[in-house]
Amino acid sequence: MKVMCVFGTRPEAIKMAPIVKVLKKEPEIETIVCVTAQHREMLDQVLSLFNIVPDYDLNIFKSGQSLTEITTKAIIGLEEVIIKEKPDVLLVQGDTTTVFAGALAAFYQKVKIGHVEAGLRSGNLYSPYPEEANRKLTGILANYHFAPTERNRQNLLKEDYPEEDIFITGNTVIDALQYAIKEDYTFNIQELNDIDYESKNVILLTSHRRENIGKPMENIFSAISDIVKKYEDVEVVFPMHLNPKVRDVAYKVFGDNSRIHLIEPLDYEPFTNLMAKCHIIVTDSGGLQEEAPTLGKPVLVVREETERPEGVEAGTAKLVGTSYDSLYENLDLLLSNEAEYDKMAKAVNPYGDGKASERIVEILLENK
Ligand code: UD1
Ligand code: UDP
Repeated sequence: MKVMCVFGTRPEAIKMAPIVKVLKKEPEIETIVCVTAQHREMLDQVLSLFNIVPDYDLNIFKSGQSLTEITTKAIIGLEEVIIKEKPDVLLVQGDTTTVFAGALAAFYQKVKIGHVEAGLRSGNLYSPYPEEANRKLTGILANYHFAPTERNRQNLLKEDYPEEDIFITGNTVIDALQYAIKEDYTFNIQELNDIDYESKNVILLTSHRRENIGKPMENIFSAISDIVKKYEDVEVVFPMHLNPKVRDVAYKVFGDNSRIHLIEPLDYEPFTNLMAKCHIIVTDSGGLQEEAPTLGKPVLVVREETERPEGVEAGTAKLVGTSYDSLYENLDLLLSNEAEYDKMAKAVNPYGDGKASERIVEILLENK
């Protein structure tokens, strides 16, 4: 059986890496890795941590390119590789433009498609944008739907997908997280080692969603900036996404403040270990909403909708929207009220047990 794994951005790489590891150990399976490189540096960081050397690298990255450019370049590049390799199954993960392009390129060659992280729905095609649409469009083309949770399975059943094509596996991000988290971790960045995680309340911030760029992001950063002014024991670490549109807002709002660390994107290992050490997470990321509950870290989700309500229901995540007031009030509450903090700071596992990749590979072998 020949399985071709296609991915292009940081989160897909993180969540596909554990599957690649399991596939490569399986003697009955030949594994081909093809990256579109929709991301470049942020993808390469993950490839090197997991020691994955792609068989094909389409190198489509260009800074500032449009969704249409990403989609068309990826489909054209993938067509050639699929025709050459003739895989039995092509695996894609998640909701990025690479995922949809990968599924479409496979469909055009009548290659079976496995969709990892299937069935998440926010219910709004414009939030997350364009991810909600990418995930739904990929679902239509997929033959195997690897749903992380029962809710995701239910979402697919509501859309009339055949029950026998849907498999609950857990999310492979938890497999990756278990690989990366270390006891007594020391950073290779002095600025992070210098922070006293015991006596300071460290807020870890990430933000990159397309629909937040502009005013919503300004609101988010302003609320955090004012919280830093109010609480002298608060420090912020923001490993900034490489998108210049994100960085421009960050530099404008945060300016120069010794308690706000605007740093480069971290490798996955230091990043997850920083998550484990911080006090509160503020994010619009999908992956962080899944990782934070496992680590028992309160996460304020700065989005209007989430396709990952399990963390909210478990009490570790709170959907606070993108207004200044809402984020400021929620941070203020968590920093001033220990009981409120403790209510959210509990480790739960709604997204998986770390064995999702093994399940996916077993399912592929049993359902050839
Ligand atoms: C993409 C995905 C999004 C995912 C996110 C993870 C789409 C449409 N979006 O969003 O679903 O949540 O990745 O981070 O598929 N850049 C670099 N180097 C890199 C990566 C990005 O310089 O390694 C900069 C470039 O200026 C690039 C910009 O970031 O144009 C945006 O990258 P793009 O892949 O278009 O979208 P993301 O916002 O990263
Ligand atoms: N991450 C990382 N370094 C960073 C920020 C995030 O390795 O500096 C990891 C994080 O642990 C998570 C993933 O990247 O697994 C999330 O990626 P991102 O937020 O870019 O995308 P999303 O999950 O929103 O699609």
